[in-house]
Amino acid sequence: MNLNDAIQECWDKIDEGQVATYIPGLAKVDPYQLGVYLFDVANDKRCQAGASRVRFAIESVSKVITLLYAIERLGLTAVEAQVGTRQTGFPFDTILNMEITKETHPLNAFINSGAILISSLIEEEDGQSPFEQILNFTREICNDPEITLDDGIYQSELRTGDMNRSLAYYLKAKGALNNDVTTSLDTYFKQCSMMVTCESLANLGAVLANDGIAPWNGERIISSAAATYTKSVMMTTGLYNESGTYSVKIGVPTKSGVGGGLVAAAPNHYGIGIFSPALDHAGNSVAGLALLELISKELKLSIF
Ligand code: DON
Repeated sequence: MNLNDAIQECWDKIDEGQVATYIPGLAKVDPYQLGVYLFDVANDKRCQAGASRVRFAIESVSKVITLLYAIERLGLTAVEAQVGTRQTGFPFDTILNMEITKETHPLNAFINSGAILISSLIEEEDGQSPFEQILNFTREICNDPEITLDDGIYQSELRTGDMNRSLAYYLKAKGALNNDVTTSLDTYFKQCSMMVTCESLANLGAVLANDGIAPWNGERIISSAAATYTKSVMMTTGLYNESGTYSVKIGVPTKSGVGGGLVAAAPNHYGIGIFSPALDHAGNSVAGLALLELISKELKLSIF
């Protein structure tokens, strides 16, 4: 398929969304951008089009990476004891679902409460802070040594992160979060502020699609069980309450971020990274999801 034509076809969708305004660093981003990078794992081919080399804030796509890192450090059983795998029916930063349903742990690792809890599990080791470990792991699994923290985005996250602070203190009060709240939040704010490209996310998707093995050098980065668990949770909660909608339309495990990024992992086939910053009401890239739907249909990627 011709990726430039696909981008043309989805371009007008940008007008249906809006850049995230609740984080000032994201509000400044030009909405008129759409890029894609495809990593064909089975045939070791890569192609890209549009704004595929632009760096953008990873935001919630980082939740995939910290989940994988926590599983690698603590084991899947320990992580499964901390967060569930269900959709909430509420926006990603809500506090309501735990209160209403009297849950003792966040319903999944991709809503903010679950992600902050996962980040809190990573302890300082060999003099490396939790964020330094996450940054190194991100560079490895995205095969991108140039990933760094953007201080402007980080300062924005700090200034506007009161709902996340509420979630963290709520988790602490409920006995779910047992490490230092300030450190846990700082790790979370920093992980959201890492700058990636479509290629970085396609590489992450390719590792997941390839059962945990980096297709660029044949080395295993994560366990097969971690890859399977994470793809399943991406399928059921990666696009928040719209996950069911896109399970039908796209049928590929996908995770979004409010920076406009999408990572998708089509098992045994493709890792896909997409960027387009205008978002729908749920915080998912509008043109990005239209493009992913087109690609999935053309390449017959739906796992169903
Ligand atoms: O915590 C927040 O609200 C942001 N740093 C990340 C949220 C996000 O990306 C949700 N995804 N679509």
